[in-house]
Amino acid sequence: MLIDSIKTVAVLGAGTMGNGIAHVFARAGYKVILRDVEQRFLGRGLETIGKNLDREIKKGKLAETEKGIVLGRLQAVTEIGGIAPADFVVEAVPEKVEIKRAVLAEADSILRPEVIIASNTSSISMTSLAALTDRPDRFVGMHFMNPVPVMVLVEVIRALQTSDATFETTMKLAGRLGKKPVAVNDAPGFVSNRVLMPLINEAAYCVMEGVATAEAVDTVMKTGMNHPMGPLELADFIGLDVCVDIMLVLQEGLGDPKYRACPLLKKYVAAGWLGRKSGRGFHIYP
Ligand SMILES: NC(=O)c1ccc[n+]([C@@H]2O[C@H](COP(=O)([O-])OP(=O)(O)OC[C@H]3O[C@@H](n4cnc5c(N)ncnc54)[C@H](O)[C@@H]3O)[C@@H](O)[C@H]2O)c1
Repeated sequence: MLIDSIKTVAVLGAGTMGNGIAHVFARAGYKVILRDVEQRFLGRGLETIGKNLDREIKKGKLAETEKGIVLGRLQAVTEIGGIAPADFVVEAVPEKVEIKRAVLAEADSILRPEVIIASNTSSISMTSLAALTDRPDRFVGMHFMNPVPVMVLVEVIRALQTSDATFETTMKLAGRLGKKPVAVNDAPGFVSNRVLMPLINEAAYCVMEGVATAEAVDTVMKTGMNHPMGPLELADFIGLDVCVDIMLVLQEGLGDPKYRACPLLKKYVAAGWLGRKSGRGFHIYP
């Protein structure tokens, strides 16, 4: 698919990432078909997009008159048939292989053959997802960061089967969203989580071994290494359960025991201390 023929983009899943991805495409002038399984999830996603556009207006990044225009580019659908007109698709459904498999099969059967499907998975092999479709050469990874409207990076992940044309179109498309696309080959954790998660894991070991408190570890990394957030603050933001799951992916995929999840991280998850979303992780969120 040529980049200039992409006018309508379907986003599958209106959750944390899906509504952010729909937001940035609509902001960049694309028509967006946002698909989720129930109307209430779509309602919540659209409400978040509205709030995030208001935030951009407050910061002077978007004119007030533009908000209605951006929202007008979004169409919410529950029926999979609604995505048929899409010229490009980004999948952002939950991180479960069975769900991805079902969604990809449905999309594959409905979309025109030339349409590229991109997955936003953080940890499933792009090569194995591509193999689930009848268009493996037109399958690619587009790994956006959370919160999508704010974070500039998109890792564009080349599955083993991804064609050069698919890869180049996707790199350019990410650029048209005002993002910084970075080319990465398919490998467990890509670059972002391959580097970040062991950092978070090591920070957790420092707390577990009594080397320093969580506050101290975060302060060292913020003030000594110029990180805008400490690793444990960031872990709380991501979700400690997600961190443990990604460490498992690294350990299984790379086979090196250095990737084993820190027992303290696992203990916090067992206690339901998942980070910001549960009110408590390494830090407490009243
Ligand atoms: N949350 C993050 O920080 C983050 C960052 C990068 C990548 N990711 C990846 O993005 C993907 C989505 O994660 P999320 O955090 O947005 O999840 P989420 O749970 O917030 O949202 C997933 C949405 O998909 C919907 N859904 C379920 N089945 C569907 C179907 N058949 N069709 C359409 N929608 C369906 C759910 O109702 C939900 O609204 C995952 O692959 C995750 O690994 C997440």
